[in-house]
Amino acid sequence: MGNDKPFRPARSYKITFVSPGGMSQSITVSPETMPSSGTGEPGSILDIALASGVEIDHACGGVCACSTCHVKIRSGLKSCNEPSEAEEDQLEKAPGITSQSRLACQCVGDASEDLVVEIPGWNRNRVREGL
Ligand code: FES
Repeated sequence: MGNDKPFRPARSYKITFVSPGGMSQSITVSPETMPSSGTGEPGSILDIALASGVEIDHACGGVCACSTCHVKIRSGLKSCNEPSEAEEDQLEKAPGITSQSRLACQCVGDASEDLVVEIPGWNRNRVREGL
């Protein structure tokens, strides 16, 4: 899986990143202004987060070979792609997984719903303060 093709969502949607500390940052993703860092699957939560100043750990570089990019999709999970077997295998290694858990580098929303994404407390909570 590479990150070499441009990704465009079908329409605009919003991703709100939240941390247990109560900080949050919302990002609008639109076909015209698709934020992309080139890390993780095209259009993935990690791809968009890193391009938008939201840091999520990604030790393997976004290639589904670790579990440091574990996030919880608090809202909008059913608008996301199905996890692959490889993602599920990696996810099992992450602490504190729930039915809302995904790997940010593999999880791609289809823009049919806004997403609320929790960056777990054990990950580095670096959602920018004051945004
Ligand atoms: S960054 Fe390693 S699995 Fe997502």
